[in-house]
Amino acid sequence: MWIGIVSLFPEMFRAVMQYGLVSRALAAGHLDIRLANPRDFAADKHRTVDDAPYGGGPGQVMMAEPLAQAAESLAARTHTAPRRIYLTPEGRPLNQQVVEELVVCDSLILIAGHYEGIDERLRTNACDDEVSIGDYVLSGGELPAMVLVDALARRIPGVLGNAESLAHESFTAGRLEGAHYTRPRLWRGETVPETLLSGDHAAVESWRARSAFKRTYERRPELFKGRPLDAHETTFIEDLQKGGDHA
Ligand code: ADE
Repeated sequence: MWIGIVSLFPEMFRAVMQYGLVSRALAAGHLDIRLANPRDFAADKHRTVDDAPYGGGPGQVMMAEPLAQAAESLAARTHTAPRRIYLTPEGRPLNQQVVEELVVCDSLILIAGHYEGIDERLRTNACDDEVSIGDYVLSGGELPAMVLVDALARRIPGVLGNAESLAHESFTAGRLEGAHYTRPRLWRGETVPETLLSGDHAAVESWRARSAFKRTYERRPELFKGRPLDAHETTFIEDLQKGGDHA
């Protein structure tokens, strides 16, 4: 997957590009990330990229042209037409479903804004999509772009090994992950659930399913909306309501 990023602070992307999973995806050639700074496309010697809003009011607005040229310089470096995404709190909320939808794109351009926002004409003419990482306002789109890059990288085929299997992870099956334990068996007086030590694979699988179900039911019951519960899940709920489940 090819990702171009338009940002006033390209250096910030070292945080994801030099460490962990994204750096591995880059090194293995699963991912290619290119950066462009709108300041390099400013028309004046002060490298101005923002100006006061028409109509007055506080703050500055990022001008359309330097952003457009930065995005176009990136698009010229890829063979497929990139999907251009502006990161903004007004965008559609990012969730695993949106990640799955975007990861099939051959190329993306992520536009990180600053100040009070960007000129509306760039949004309507040079962006295909707008994405928000949550209902809170950050000072710029760099962190949201990094969040999206990380979430995408781990879904690119070949990036995660079998050991990091996706089969049970949160949201893949429309529910949260359950509890995990590792050595030591006794930690500060608290032991590991007996079933996990039993060596009985079927019992372990069932314990994990119940643990995941319980967590989802207690924390995010709305994740069950829109799909019918199977027989096991109905039994889990009955157990939970009776207070009889210890997963
Ligand atoms: N830019 C500023 N805040 C943001 C958010 N919550 N999501 C995406 N982009 C943003």
